[in-house]
Amino acid sequence: MGTGRARLAASILDADFANLGYEVRRVVKAGADRIHLDVMDGHFVPNLTFGPKAIKALRRVTGVPFDAHLMISEPGRYIDQFLDAGCDSVTVHVEIEEPIEPTLRAIRAAGRAAGLALKPATPLSALEPYRELLDIVMVMTVEPGFGSQSFMRDAAQKILPARDLLRHKAFGGEVHVDGGVNRETAEIAGGLGADILVVGSALFTKGRNMGREIRLIKALADEGFQYQLNDGKPPIPRDNWVTFVQLPKVFARRFMNEIEAGGIPVLMLRGDGQINPDGIRDYEVKVPAMAEALTIERHAEARERYLAEAEAWRERLRAGEG
Ligand code: DX5
Ligand code: ZN
Repeated sequence: MGTGRARLAASILDADFANLGYEVRRVVKAGADRIHLDVMDGHFVPNLTFGPKAIKALRRVTGVPFDAHLMISEPGRYIDQFLDAGCDSVTVHVEIEEPIEPTLRAIRAAGRAAGLALKPATPLSALEPYRELLDIVMVMTVEPGFGSQSFMRDAAQKILPARDLLRHKAFGGEVHVDGGVNRETAEIAGGLGADILVVGSALFTKGRNMGREIRLIKALADEGFQYQLNDGKPPIPRDNWVTFVQLPKVFARRFMNEIEAGGIPVLMLRGDGQINPDGIRDYEVKVPAMAEALTIERHAEARERYLAEAEAWRERLRAGEG
């Protein structure tokens, strides 16, 4: 769903492999929304990286969504291991020889997001037969196999029409762009409505401030969205945001992380609600109108819990218990 608020999945392909757990913690702390895991088998692509065992170990390091990108010839053979390792989304390549549908079905049966990736030369039409089974379309803007390659602008032209392949999904369909995304190319990717920017080497470049890089790339992508897709006019919000709940800041932030972990984007804004005993007004936890029903379905119970916790917290503050 192109909301113009592109999110960033950090690829650890160019991270320090001697300290992968530390690198994952570092990039999440710097603001990465997801971890992108490039699995390569030395057969589908001429490179070898890591497998489900390593992913399972990294799973203990962070709660952010794991986005597996399987550049392997036989994903069907290993898919249960990747699901068991804790991948929240799994994207396989449409160019593989083996049957694709069973693997997409297995991913969804496990309650995860299923995706198909296209090499630069593969047309979007190759995904048509699998459309109904897709949550993710991943447009590769480099030849798969290595980080630090240059962004292929012609391949990027598939990003905008790729959304059409997801029109069957009321909410949650995502277009990912993967390869050569950095501060020079983020505006193009964002301008074409990419939802998830996969960024690798730009974040793990020695001496670069990772947090600033992430904020810059996301801001440039949003800038691109504002002015590229809308012929230079600030976009009419494709999706109004509705207030799901108003909570004191610390509770709002916790709840925001909980909702976002399941893939629903959240805006946290200073509300017009009550002023708390600590002098700070409640914050609004806002979700896209399109996702309101899904948010209620998933989080109505938690909302009641947070409201009760917040009220108890106010009572304690009023009673001077801090
Ligand atoms: C390439 C991988 C990409 C790559 C991204 O085969 O799928 O995820 O690691 O890294 P950069 O951002 O360096 O192109
Ligand atoms: Zn990748």
